[in-house]
Amino acid sequence: MFSRIARSAVSIARSFCSSSQSNTKVTVLGASGGIGQPLSLLLKKSPLVSQLSLYDVVHTLGVAADLSHIETRAQVTGYVGPEQLPQALKGSEVVVIPAGVPRKPGMTRDDLFGTNASIVATLADACARNCPEAMICLITNPVNSTVPIASEILRKHGVYNPKRVFGVTTLDIVRANTFVAELTGLNPAHVNVPVVGGHAGKTIIPVLSRCTPKVEFSVDTLTNLTRRIQDAGTEVVKAKAGAGSATLSMAYAGARFAVSLLDAMNGKEGVIECAFVRSEEGECTYFSTPLLLGRHGVERNLGLGKLSALETKLVAEALDELKASIKKGEGLCECANTLTK
Ligand code: 2OP
Repeated sequence: MFSRIARSAVSIARSFCSSSQSNTKVTVLGASGGIGQPLSLLLKKSPLVSQLSLYDVVHTLGVAADLSHIETRAQVTGYVGPEQLPQALKGSEVVVIPAGVPRKPGMTRDDLFGTNASIVATLADACARNCPEAMICLITNPVNSTVPIASEILRKHGVYNPKRVFGVTTLDIVRANTFVAELTGLNPAHVNVPVVGGHAGKTIIPVLSRCTPKVEFSVDTLTNLTRRIQDAGTEVVKAKAGAGSATLSMAYAGARFAVSLLDAMNGKEGVIECAFVRSEEGECTYFSTPLLLGRHGVERNLGLGKLSALETKLVAEALDELKASIKKGEGLCECANTLTK
C-alpha cells in the first residue's frame, strides 16, 4: 500500500507542474543567494504560483527583474532590506526560507547556528506578524535547530500550527534516489527512498529497506551507501573548496518540496514527501518521516513504519544529537523574547 502511494507521489513530485491553476503567493526569503536564485527560477516555472515575491538584503531587484522576463504566469516582485520585509510577506500562502550562510570545509551544519539562528528567528518573527497562516518551508541550516526556532517564535505569537512548518530534507531523498540508481542501473526518476530523522550527518537515516522498487545490497554496500547519503552535503562542501555548499541540488530539492506542497494545497491527493516536522512519532519532538500532504499542510504523519535492524540502530544512535539540536533551537527562543515584542 505504502509503496503504491509512494510511487504515485514520486511521479507527482518530479513532474514539477500541474494542469490546474491556483492563485498562490509564494515568497522566497534569501532569494538572491546561491540557493535562492535557482530556487526562485524553478518556482517561476510552476503554474501554481501566481505571485512570486523575492526578498533579500541585497540584489533582489535585479534577480526579480531578470526572472520577470520569463514567459510563465507568476508575477515577480523584488523586495530589499528589512523595511520591505513585511510587504514581501503580506498575503503569502507559502514561504520558502534558504536565507543564511553556507558551510565551509571542516564545518558541520551546527557550526552555522551562531549566524543562521538569529536570521531565521527574525524571519519567522516577520512571518508571524505578516502571514501567520502561511506554510513555512525551512532550508536554512542547521535545519534540526532552525525548525524548532521558527516554531517557538510562531508559538510566542500565538500563531503556531505544527502542520504548516517544515524542515526541507528533500535533498537527502533526492541523493538517496540518485545513489541507489547509480549502483543498480535503475532510472533515478523511478527510485524512491524514504529518509527519516533529521538533516545533519548521522541524523540522516535512509530507509533503504523500503526503497521502491525493492533493492538488495550486501551489508558492506548498504553501510557505505548509508554513509555516502549522510555525508553527501559534506562531499559537495569539499568539492566546492570554500565556495559554499550545495546550491543547485538544494534548489531542485526545495522546489520539489514546495511544488508538492502546492499540489496538495490545491487538492491533489496522495502527495507524500518526507520532511522534518513537529512529531509524536518517536522520542524526539521533531522528526522527519513520510508525510501525507493536504490542503492544510500535514494531513497525516505516516510515521517511521517498519525498519530493518540496521535502520533501527541508526535511529537509536541519532537521538542524542537530534535532541540536543532541538533543545539548542528552543533555547535560543527562551533568550529572545525581545524578538516578539
Ligand atoms: C546539504 O545537505 C546544504 O544542507 C544542505 O547539502
